[in-house]
Formats: sequence, structure tokens, C-alpha cells
Amino acid sequence: MPKRIAVYPGSFDPIHNGHLDIIERCRPLFDEVLIAVLHNEGKQALFSVEERVEIIRERIVHLPDCRVESFTGLLVDFMDRVGARAVVRGLRAVSDFEYEFQMALMNRRLNPRVETVFMMPREDYSYLSSRLVKEVYALGGDLSGLVPEPVLERLRQRLRLAPVGSPAG
Ligand code: PNS
Repeated sequence: MPKRIAVYPGSFDPIHNGHLDIIERCRPLFDEVLIAVLHNEGKQALFSVEERVEIIRERIVHLPDCRVESFTGLLVDFMDRVGARAVVRGLRAVSDFEYEFQMALMNRRLNPRVETVFMMPREDYSYLSSRLVKEVYALGGDLSGLVPEPVLERLRQRLRLAPVGSPAG
């Protein structure tokens, strides 16, 4: 039987505990979870794709059924290349729904073999986003319990070097 591979795609700039919670939740449902970091030249990010992949790899090193890669181009083409049929996306609130619905249906139109599986993170993380992580960190807010300590350390290093608020994403 072919392996059931799920692709969990995103920008992950940076990964936070809500993402990690989704990874933990989808692991038992699939043989392998492939975290796919979008390489998007058009979007200014705080961390390079290579850094984001490295940060994620450090967080999943103890999970034998998980790996991380970056991708460019269409997600459905990447999924074909890696032999995956399921896209996993986290749904935090109703406000996520419209964008996610559009993406899921467009992906299905582009490749009818692809199914999107929505998962809800733990309630404590239902308001958490990478954008807010960066903003709160840059303004000196407390992020304990919301991002892993090594990610906080990366934020410390990165935002110490840059003027507050300069990197977008
Ligand atoms: O974490 P994000 O930024 O919301 O993730 C968005 C992502 C990476 C899942 C989406 O932008 C994507 O799949 N991009 C790849 C290009 C693509 O396939 N576009 C058509 C999507 S319908």
C-alpha cells in the first residue's frame, strides 16, 4: 500500500506553537507528514527559507515520521512530486475560513486528487499567528508558551540587529 503522505504547507515565518500543535495532531492520521515551506520571492520575510527550514527541522528532529522541505511554484505540483494527496491546514477562526475555502477549492480544481484536511489547533493557540508573534516580540511583549524557546532566541538575534518594525511578513 502506498504511504499516506500529508503535506502541511505554509510560510512558517517563524513556526509557533499553534503550528507545532497541528503537526502533532495530524501525525497519527498519516504515515508521513511533510512540512512544506513556501519559497516566495515576492513576500518579504523575517527569516530566509533556509532559516525557516532549519528552525522547523530542529523542532521535529525527534519525530521519525516528519520531515521538512521548501518548495516553489504550485503546491499541487509539489504534492505530485512527493506523492502526497492530502494538504493539512490549520483553521483557527471563522475569519480563516474564506481564504482557506478558496485555496482548497482552487487546489482541487488544479488537481482533483488533492484533498484538504482542516484541523483546529488547541484553543490556547486559536488566535496565534506568525505575524502577531513578530509584532508582539518587536514591541517587547511576552510570548512565553506561544513559541518554542529556540524560536524566541532566533527572534532575539534577528530583531536586535534590525530596527523595530522594519521586517514585514
Ligand atoms: O502560511 P500561509 O502563508 O497562509 O500559507 C499559504 C500557502 C503557502 C499554503 C499558499 O500560499 C500556497 O500554497 N502557495 C503556493 C502557490 C500555490 O499553489 N498557489 C495556489 C494556491 S490555491
